[in-house]
Amino acid sequence: MSAVPVPQVQFRPMRASDVADVAALERSLYAFPWSAGNFRDSVEAGYDCRVACDGSRLIGYAILMIALDEAHLLNLAVASDWQGQGLGRAFLDHMLAIGKAAGVQIVYLEVRPSNQAARQLYKRAGFQQIAIRPAYYPALQGREDALFLGLTL
Ligand SMILES: CC(C)(COP(=O)(O)OP(=O)(O)OC[C@H]1O[C@@H](n2cnc3c(N)ncnc32)[C@H](O)[C@@H]1OP(=O)(O)O)[C@@H](O)C(=O)NCCC(=O)NCCS
Repeated sequence: MSAVPVPQVQFRPMRASDVADVAALERSLYAFPWSAGNFRDSVEAGYDCRVACDGSRLIGYAILMIALDEAHLLNLAVASDWQGQGLGRAFLDHMLAIGKAAGVQIVYLEVRPSNQAARQLYKRAGFQQIAIRPAYYPALQGREDALFLGLTL
């Protein structure tokens, strides 16, 4: 696991009381955001939901759904003023370590081809493209494919 790049940043489990802040951050980052209900359902379903905090401020979140020896990274995001400082990579490594400790052997995720920052993050972490899921995401015009990536732990 990588060290958190900035000492005051801490990772901890997402609580139901975090959902409003998480959903607000999500709306600030995505054109087609998850709803608060999507996050609440993830917490209630027992997925590995984590937040990154700078003191009392929530600056990132990630959701890993583990099923036996496989996991799916459903969401990972960092507040825009914290991006580009290594937090995304540290958070990704933190989630991969959670998976590995639970016995996960392979982690999957989807990413938009247009999302260069996320694609670079996952590439540097060793993810490889497995397939393309056609018209997977809503887009401003029509729909956008998803790149389906995997990483063997
Ligand atoms: C994707 C995201 C989590 C990356 O977080 P971050 O804290 O900026 O990432 P880091 O600073 O740890 O950088 C990780 C890698 O991504 C690269 N990267 C970061 N921002 C980038 C950008 N705008 N363009 C290209 N590469 C970028 C970095 O160069 C770094 O690679 P390096 O090892 O070559 O330096 C962040 O941009 C984000 O939250 N985006 C909005 C939500 C999102 O799209 N989530 C992913 C959904 S699949």
